[in-house]
Order: sequence, then C-alpha cells, then structure tokens
Amino acid sequence: MADEVLKQFTPEKEAQAIDVSRRLKVGIIGTGWIAESHIASLKKMPDVDIVAGADLIPGKAEKFFKKFEVEGVRCYPDHKAMIDAEELDAVTICTYNATHAECAIYALEHGLNVLLEKPMTVTVEEAAAIIRAEKKSGKVLSIGFQPRFDENMKMIKKIVESGELGQVYYIQTGGGRRRGIPNSTFIEKKTAGIGALGDIGCYSLDMVLNAIGYPKPLTVSGYKSDFFGTNPKFNNPADAARFNVDDFAAAFIRLEGGIILDFRIAWAMNIDTPGDTIILGTEGGLRIPSTDCWNGAPGGPMTVYKQIAGEQVETVIPLKKTKGDLFDQKIRSFLNAIKNGTPSPVPSSQILYNQAIIDGIVKSAEAGREIEIEIPEC
Ligand SMILES: NC(=O)c1ccc[n+]([C@@H]2O[C@H](COP(=O)([O-])OP(=O)(O)OC[C@H]3O[C@@H](n4cnc5c(N)ncnc54)[C@H](O)[C@@H]3O)[C@@H](O)[C@H]2O)c1
Repeated sequence: MADEVLKQFTPEKEAQAIDVSRRLKVGIIGTGWIAESHIASLKKMPDVDIVAGADLIPGKAEKFFKKFEVEGVRCYPDHKAMIDAEELDAVTICTYNATHAECAIYALEHGLNVLLEKPMTVTVEEAAAIIRAEKKSGKVLSIGFQPRFDENMKMIKKIVESGELGQVYYIQTGGGRRRGIPNSTFIEKKTAGIGALGDIGCYSLDMVLNAIGYPKPLTVSGYKSDFFGTNPKFNNPADAARFNVDDFAAAFIRLEGGIILDFRIAWAMNIDTPGDTIILGTEGGLRIPSTDCWNGAPGGPMTVYKQIAGEQVETVIPLKKTKGDLFDQKIRSFLNAIKNGTPSPVPSSQILYNQAIIDGIVKSAEAGREIEIEIPEC
C-alpha cells in the first residue's frame, strides 16, 4: 500500500494539488545538523507554519530559527515542554538516535503526526514501543528514509517486482567509506546508541529489503568492531577517547522465504569499498555498484545478468536522475499522508524489520554466536 503511495508521487503533481487553505502547524524537535535539511524543505511547503522548536542545548533552537530566518517560532528546552505548551499537527524528530523513541512516543501519545529521522531507534524494543503508541494514536508515523524517493532505488524495486530475476535467494549488500568516521553526537552510546550499523547500515538494509517486500528476518550471526574509531592513528585523539560505538559490522541473516542476506558496513576500513550490492535470483542477477562514500545511492549504472536463448547477456540500466529534492519529497509525502488520510510513505511496520536486524547484529555480536531474531509484540 505504501509503495502505491510512493509510485504515484511526483513533485510536480503534488505541488499543484496542495490545499493551502488547510494549514499544518509543525514543530521541530532537535535543531542540529539534519534539522537544517528539514527546515529548508518545510519552508518550501506552502501549507506549513513552523511554529515551534526544541533543543536540549540552551539557545541552540533560537539561533537555528534566526539563521533560517523563520520568525515568531516559540523555542523550548526539550520535546516535552514544546508538546505540552503547543497545539501542533505534526513534529519532525531530528534528535540523535538515543532520544528517538522517547520523543516519538510522547508526540504520538499527544495526538501528533510524526516524521522520525533514521535509524528508527537504537533497539528493536524501542521500535516496537513506538509502533504501539502509533497504533493507539491513529496518527501518521513516517521514518526518514529519503533514498526511497530516488528514481534508481525505485528502479531496483521495479526490477525485482517485474519477475526478471525469478525467485530471489541471495543478497549481498552493505557499503562503506575508507575513512569516513563522523564525530559530534554520532560516536557515543549515550547519544547515538549504535555506530555505522545504524547510521549508514540502515540505508543498505532498506535498499534491498524494500525491493524484496521486507520479509521477516529470522536469524542472524553478527559481528561488530571499533578498531578505527578508538585508534588515535585513524581518528582525532579527542574523538578516539570517547568513541564507544561500532565502526564496522558484518552479518549473515536468514529471511523468511529462504532468502539469505549477507551484509557489511563500515565507517572506516583498509579498502575502497566492501563490495557491490548483488541480488541473485533463479532467472537473473542484479549488480548495484557500490560507492566510495556510502550514503544511500547507487554508485553507477546497474546491470542485470540473464541467460537468453542460451546466451549469457547483460543489460545495463542507466542511472536515472531524480526529479526534485529528496528531502522535499520525504517531507511532502508525510504531509500528504496527514492531509489525505493515506498510508505512511515509509511505514514503521517495514522499518521494524530493519531495526530488528540491526538489533540482532548487536546482540549476536555481543553473544559471539548466531541468534534468533525476536520481534516484540506491537
Ligand atoms: N536522513 C538523513 O539524511 C540524515 C542525515 C544525517 C543525520 N540523520 C539522522 O538525524 C538524527 C540527528 O542527526 P544530527 O546530525 O542532526 O545530530 P545533532 O547532534 O547535530 O543534532 C541533534 C540535536 O537533537 C537535540 N536533542 C536530543 N534530544 C532532544 C530532546 N529530547 N528534545 C530536544 N532536542 C533534543 C540535541 O541537543 C542536538 O542539538 C540522527 O538520528 C541521524 O541518524 C539523518
């Protein structure tokens, strides 16, 4: 259902269809780096009033709205103070991962629609708790995976759904950076909870799981390490001293339907890329080239491998240009779902499985063995 929503969405059509007489009051929770992309897109929406903002750091929200020249925004010291004081329609949650769950649950419990940044949470238990609050509220919850709106990402799903690959049985995915460890709030458990696994791993997982219809994950054998983040030879010494999340993770995951998912992700490694994404099916194979700096977009034209009339043939799928800005589309699709009563563009029911895999990798790595993936009732 949500895929139908995405397929129909084109920025041009939506721009014409926006009912500006029905306005939405939006608050921004967390006014750090990614909130800059949110506010830039929200400002372009003709039916949005940005009325409130919150940040834990005193004065940060005020400075943020001044920088973006949005006047009359009321600023608060945290999400609770903002939600308690304001009459909002929606919030966008741009906080670090460790506070995603508390902010989303509080907003949903107070009857607000929520656009929540990726990764959905740190743990699968938190993701399930958000979904329970979502179900009780009946409000829209969308998770911030803007690569879903990329035409090449849509093409991957189209190829799988066309049946050209036959029955998919094996997928290798992941991505990485030779040297690309972030800093600030991304490298400590108390703020990020997880490292490369959550930051860029969630995109790799979404790329392939969305293409194959998000089958339930069953078991995982996971590994994670922190050799680069903690080493002052490879990381700024002050950051190395406080680094306590993963900078590399790998896993072997069994999915419902007999599909194997082989995954690896790195913020830093002694090689250029950890390999292309490949999707193997009984009738064809798809190669999606990796990038030097993985951020959720294919690194070049994709190739489909098949046998036709006894010959081994390859078809190159040229890269498609995405119309419009991905962030605008992520935010517009969320607003449209609120106004039109349509399903969430990036539904939590799918991303729960993404989070369950991430959580499973952490738990398996810590246990040092394969584990069953347990998905809490929601
Ligand atoms: N979609 C994307 O392309 C993309 C890109 C970068 C980051 N992100 C995600 O966005 C999130 C934020 O990343 P960032 O780089 O902006 O981090 P950041 O540290 O720059 O900003 C987060 C802000 O949230 C504030 N905050 C935390 N808890 C709060 C609360 N309860 N109430 C109010 N404010 C609170 C912090 O004080 C901080 O200023 C992360 O989850 C990250 O994974 C998404």
